[in-house]
Amino acid sequence: MALSHFLFLLKFFLIISGTNISVLGCYTSIFSFGVSLVDTGSNFHDKPNRSPYCHLPYGQAYFQRATCCASDGRLIIDYIAQELGLPLVPPYLGKEGVNFQEGVNFAVIGATALDTNFFDEIGITYPTNYSLGAQLELFKKFLSSQCDPSSSNRNKDDYDPLTGCLNWLNNFSEYHNKFLQQELDRVRKLHPHANIIYADNYNAAMQIYRSPSQLGFQKGALSTCCGGGGPYNYNNSAQCGSLGSSVCEEPSLHVSWDGTHLTEAAYGSIANGLLRGLFTVPRMNTLCLSGLPKIGEFPN
Ligand SMILES: *[C@@H]1O[C@H](CO)[C@@H](O)[C@H](O)[C@H]1NC(C)=O
Ligand SMILES: *[C@@H]1O[C@H](CO)[C@@H](O)[C@H](O)[C@H]1NC(C)=O
Ligand SMILES: *[C@@H]1O[C@H](CO)[C@@H](O)[C@H](O)[C@H]1NC(C)=O
Ligand SMILES: *[C@@H]1O[C@H](CO)[C@@H](O)[C@H](O)[C@H]1NC(C)=O
Repeated sequence: MALSHFLFLLKFFLIISGTNISVLGCYTSIFSFGVSLVDTGSNFHDKPNRSPYCHLPYGQAYFQRATCCASDGRLIIDYIAQELGLPLVPPYLGKEGVNFQEGVNFAVIGATALDTNFFDEIGITYPTNYSLGAQLELFKKFLSSQCDPSSSNRNKDDYDPLTGCLNWLNNFSEYHNKFLQQELDRVRKLHPHANIIYADNYNAAMQIYRSPSQLGFQKGALSTCCGGGGPYNYNNSAQCGSLGSSVCEEPSLHVSWDGTHLTEAAYGSIANGLLRGLFTVPRMNTLCLSGLPKIGEFPN
């Protein structure tokens, strides 16, 4: 008995996300990985036309048609979704690019926990290439597609209307920085003779995102100088420097250089905020530095 419980736990895992975790009714999405216990149809695309689970009598009990699930009806994950008030979790394979707001299922019948290389090396055959590691790779790919600004399921409310930034990511930075400062306070107490300066990169940069043109960035803070098209001139398939990308005329009017890194003009502005502005604790210019050269006067 104990053994079967153990196997069961190894056979699948779920990520259920939601903002309130006290009651069942508040989970907002399910992400699932595993094997036949939870595969809701990916096996069909893994082995087109060779999957017995896509024919009756599979599915006869609940769906009254075969849905490529390895049972006569619902799987454990189907019951979980129904209990949580969510739609049955759609399989990922064959539906890449669909809007998976309420979750998606990466499980494939026969998946191994170890990578397939392991079995190749010892000459053992395995039922599918979609090992747990491969499923997690698909999940990462899925996540990056969700973050693609050109993705069709962007939701206007997710963005700060003033800056165009994603609220949850900036909240996350603020949260991180709050704890970082608490930790620095602790380190300061441990080392009272050292000057430990907190450089608030986040707020120094946010100043630019809030009013780019006032700071000289006429082309705005979001669109890149060097990139390959799309709403922010950022194209994952044509990144700065690769075929299909191009460089703008006046990089110094842009904040973003390549979509991930800023232009030297933006970095200069942030450095100025740290060196002379309000964005270090304690203020950098109250310690030992005085008569700093102006940005632009630094030797090359
Ligand atoms: C979480 O709870 C709050 C307050 O009860 C509610 O306003 C909010 O909609 C809930 N969130 C979700 C995702 O259900
Ligand atoms: C794994 O992928 C390879 C290459 O795509 C394919 O030839 C092979 O049949 C697949 N194996 C299984 C078990 O699905
Ligand atoms: C960001 O944090 C604020 C308060 O700190 C909160 O009101 C808001 O709902 C959060 N937004 C997101 C998207 O997490
Ligand atoms: C992104 O780059 C690829 C490869 O160069 C190209 O095919 C595609 O059209 C580009 N997308 C946009 C939105 O410009």
